[in-house]
Amino acid sequence: MSKIVLSFVFTMLCQGLHVDIKNMCPRSDKFCVKVKLNPSESYELDRNVTYPHQKVTFSGSRVYAIPGHFFFVFPNVRFLTMNRCNVRNLEEADFMGAENLVRLEMWKNQIRELPRDLFSGCRNLEWLDLSSNQIKTLHPHSFHGLRRLRKLLLFRNQIHTLPPILFRDLVALETVHLEDNRIEILEENIFIANSRLGIVRIRNNRLKVVHPSIFLSMRNLYWLDLSRNYFDEIQTNTLDTLHINDGMVKKCFINGKIRNLHADNNEIQSLYIRDLTNTQEIHISRNKLYDLSSIHGAKHLSKLDASQNKLGLLNSLDFSQMADLMYLNLSNTDLILPGKNAFARLTNLATLDLSHNQMRELPPDLLTPLRNLRELHLDYNKLTQVNYSNLRDSSPALKYLGLHGNNWRCSYLRDLVEYMDRNGISVSKGIYDDSVGGTHNVAGINCTLL
Ligand SMILES: *[C@@H]1O[C@H](CO)[C@@H](O)[C@H](O)[C@H]1NC(C)=O
Ligand SMILES: *[C@@H]1O[C@H](CO)[C@@H](O)[C@H](O)[C@H]1NC(C)=O
Ligand SMILES: *[C@@H]1O[C@H](CO)[C@@H](O)[C@H](O)[C@H]1NC(C)=O
Ligand SMILES: *[C@@H]1O[C@H](CO)[C@@H](O)[C@H](O)[C@H]1NC(C)=O
Repeated sequence: MSKIVLSFVFTMLCQGLHVDIKNMCPRSDKFCVKVKLNPSESYELDRNVTYPHQKVTFSGSRVYAIPGHFFFVFPNVRFLTMNRCNVRNLEEADFMGAENLVRLEMWKNQIRELPRDLFSGCRNLEWLDLSSNQIKTLHPHSFHGLRRLRKLLLFRNQIHTLPPILFRDLVALETVHLEDNRIEILEENIFIANSRLGIVRIRNNRLKVVHPSIFLSMRNLYWLDLSRNYFDEIQTNTLDTLHINDGMVKKCFINGKIRNLHADNNEIQSLYIRDLTNTQEIHISRNKLYDLSSIHGAKHLSKLDASQNKLGLLNSLDFSQMADLMYLNLSNTDLILPGKNAFARLTNLATLDLSHNQMRELPPDLLTPLRNLRELHLDYNKLTQVNYSNLRDSSPALKYLGLHGNNWRCSYLRDLVEYMDRNGISVSKGIYDDSVGGTHNVAGINCTLL
């Protein structure tokens, strides 16, 4: 297809090359050039003229393909940008002479296919951005020869299949972005040659299985995003951050350390982190955890969102080592009665959410150790009273106390709210009114007269 187009325009002379150095490039950068080509103009450049520029940006051009002889006319080009240029086809010949090319950006075009050996002339390419195209088919040798490539961006395409040897030459690869495609399978050895790979993003694809050895064998993996896929089990080695939100994961196994785990909205029953020493955040809301025993040794945890699980009881050990915890969300976890020393070590806790549970009472000194508490959510339980007489002294920083949806008697609640008012602790955004909508309330918080 592009051959036909090229031979058709071959007879036309190229007058369309418009060089506009001043507008696009920093004044100081004399090697930078902006090129504008219009669709009626030739795509075949005149080989007799050469330009010394190192950076070329096509902008506002509908060129359909890389103009013929481009790298002969711009032999020094290191950075080529052709975003939103309607490019449809790429062929190996397009990159003849592209030895100096370091960075190629072609996002938001209409490229459908990457044929074999496409980039084999691009020995120095380090950065390749083909995101937001319509790539469906990748040849096993599409990336053949890219031994210096560090960053590969293929997100927002229509890729279903990654041939097993696709990344075999990419020995310098550090980052790969494959999110928003339709990938169903990751071959066991897909990243075997990419020992420097640190960032892998495959969010929002259709992975049904993630073979355990893929990520277990990666030594430099730092950031892995596999959210929004369909697999039910994931195993990794040490890494910094793992995202597996919004999936169908039942079992998550980290055979090393992890700093941040984002695993909301799965079916996790089984969580294992071999070494918890540098774990700082665990987001595991909306799962099927029955207890927190697997993370109770997380000494440096600062954020734990375990809301919407089936915890029921809190073990007295659960938070006994988490002296750094600042945020704890146990909303909607079927809590009935936390043990009286459950929060004894949480002297740094600033936010505690115990809402949407079945608590009828709180153990008397439960909140006393929480010296740095700023926000406490007790809404939607079955409380009739809380021991607040000492609250201002024990938690001097408290700013908000959520009390909605409990079994307060109005007379009790009135005293409680008064205490909070006096001490500058806000309880509700509602307005004080004794009978809003026919129900009884104090400061907008429902209560009963009897
Ligand atoms: C390019 O140079 C060759 C040889 O110097 C000449 O024959 C040809 O006409 C030139 N082409 C153009 C388009 O000027
Ligand atoms: C706790 O989690 C619930 C449900 O997941 C969420 O709606 C709520 O905003 C969280 N609470 C805080 C204080 O962040
Ligand atoms: C309320 O708390 C204080 C101090 O924390 C304690 O001395 C007292 O016994 C508690 N009262 C009740 C009724 O639990
Ligand atoms: C208070 O009670 C009324 C009537 O039962 C109900 O419609 C409303 O949602 C309650 N408000 C809160 C904040 O729970």
